[in-house]
Amino acid sequence: MKRIVIAIDGYSACGKSSTAKQVAAKLGYTFIDSGAMYRAVTLHLLNQHVNVEDLVKVEEHLNEIEIGFEGSSILLNGNNVDTEIRTRAVNENVSAVSAISAVRRKMVHQQQLIGRGKGIVMDGRDIGTVVFPDAELKIFMTASIEVRAERRQKELLEKGIDESIESIMGNLLERDRIDSNRADSPLIKAEDAIEIDTTNITLEQQIDQILDLAKEKINEN
Ligand code: CDP
Repeated sequence: MKRIVIAIDGYSACGKSSTAKQVAAKLGYTFIDSGAMYRAVTLHLLNQHVNVEDLVKVEEHLNEIEIGFEGSSILLNGNNVDTEIRTRAVNENVSAVSAISAVRRKMVHQQQLIGRGKGIVMDGRDIGTVVFPDAELKIFMTASIEVRAERRQKELLEKGIDESIESIMGNLLERDRIDSNRADSPLIKAEDAIEIDTTNITLEQQIDQILDLAKEKINEN
């Protein structure tokens, strides 16, 4: 059976990763959370006390960083950092780090290598526009800011991180602003992406919609 590439982009906390993970599981595809990669880079820079505004310093530290995956867990230089990449410090710095071209070049290169064999579901901000412009299926997810903040608060609580709705909402809006306005590969909907507004639908409905679209593409030709 034909194996395709599925690119899922959109604003922060729309449920992209939860959806992508389950779509991949149902299709027997690999799931890659590209946001986790940018978060891991940010974590490393913070751990090394690098000023993320200092482009020269950031570039110097980039070659110390090796990102890997073990199932859906993210590894930073061999260590599982699933929990550490979700902290407030990372949330507050990740969009600045992600706007740096040298960081993007390194991540996009690795993402394209992972996607070479097809059979992949990757979520992020520039997957359908820059990483896999030829992806067979591109989804652009949206949801109201209130719903996104509520969902993120619940997700963080499950990971033992207690943050107020106001603080979460502020961070989501700020990241959306930086992500949408950066010069290098800003967050925009690819022309051929299908938009799904998840404000009033459940996670299961989101997954089913994308699975139906994926099956159509797989059975084409
Ligand atoms: O989970 P959430 O939607 O909050 O964010 P994420 O997918 O974990 O991404 C964290 C940050 O990484 C985003 O706010 C972007 O700044 C950056 N990112 C990016 O620039 N390009 C991607 N392909 C994925 C994430």
